[in-house]
Amino acid sequence: MTFRHRTLPLLTASALALNALTSCKEGGGDTIVIGEYASLTGKEANFGTSCHEGTLLAVEQINAAGGVLGKKIELKTEDNLSKAGESANIVNKLISKDQVVAILGEVASSRSLEAAPIAQQNGIPMISPASTNPKVTETGDYVFRVCFIDPFQGTVMANFAQNTLKVSKVAVFTDVKSDYSKGLAKFFKERFAENGQIVAELDYSGGDKDFRAQLTTIKNSNPEAVFVPGYYTDVALIRIQARQLGLDVPFLGGDGWEGADLLTIGKEAVEGDYFSTHYSPEAGSPKGKEFVEAYKARYNGKTPDAMAALGYDSAMILADAIQRAGSTEGAKIRDALAATKDYEAATGRITLNENRDAVKAAVILQVQGGTFKYLETVEP
Ligand code: PHE
Repeated sequence: MTFRHRTLPLLTASALALNALTSCKEGGGDTIVIGEYASLTGKEANFGTSCHEGTLLAVEQINAAGGVLGKKIELKTEDNLSKAGESANIVNKLISKDQVVAILGEVASSRSLEAAPIAQQNGIPMISPASTNPKVTETGDYVFRVCFIDPFQGTVMANFAQNTLKVSKVAVFTDVKSDYSKGLAKFFKERFAENGQIVAELDYSGGDKDFRAQLTTIKNSNPEAVFVPGYYTDVALIRIQARQLGLDVPFLGGDGWEGADLLTIGKEAVEGDYFSTHYSPEAGSPKGKEFVEAYKARYNGKTPDAMAALGYDSAMILADAIQRAGSTEGAKIRDALAATKDYEAATGRITLNENRDAVKAAVILQVQGGTFKYLETVEP
């Protein structure tokens, strides 16, 4: 699927051919073409949709203000269906066929890890809005992110469990298909085990529907809380089945919990649970508040979530770097991105460190009354 920011009327075959010529010319010269790959449909559609909406809003604002280097940005967005394997194909196509100057994506770490080596090999800068696994930017010096990483996020939730919830025994339930889940589980366990006990460690595979065998083992280990570093679709089902088994201790998770479907599917089963994420519309800076207002105005009053805010920030930071680079050459954009310092973004002030990661605060949210309620901000 490709979204173009021009409306094409229905055309005859010859007019279509002419149009193809014009857009080709535009892509090559009059616009700056940026690629985006996202999970717009499929299992993690909440991630891709929110992120794309934030990204698109940023591009529209940039273009309304005159664009970058005197040119409009043209965003080419492709759907990877939330499926493994698709992101590599898409990013290859964006680079070789669409000749994008930079790439935005993905939310899920496993999918960013598929595309990052391709961007790196081609010398095309890539910014992940929301992938938190450390390996993503370790791919190479063309790969950046505008979010924190999981060693921090895991520590935040282990500290919260011990210091705020006063929990000393936890079970950890990990999605073995997800680099994100495996990494976050590891970092959480390392920190928690310093002062507490991990009483059970169980695995599932993202997309599974029946978690009762593992949840029974978890229940029998008598944890005071359960840490599930998974994605919202699986977590909602896990939580429903846990309640059915009478496992009523608090469940904790990370940013992967943040999809509207956690609430629509999980309903009262997820009430009272906690997770860490990147941002809350309730705790924003002035820049964050401006973003919330603009997003609501653009998308029928909808409140933006973390992926929307991070998608917005990734596009804004890219545009800022291209402007400072004074060029759309990959190496020059790369150097400008690496020099990003104290950029006032919707999710907070962003400086990219020597590992091309953002060092930023996390927020902890609780499911309360069918919404995500802001509890606290944890500085790095
Ligand atoms: N951090 C998750 C990952 O790396 C993705 C995510 C980010 C999910 C933000 C929700 C919100 O896979």
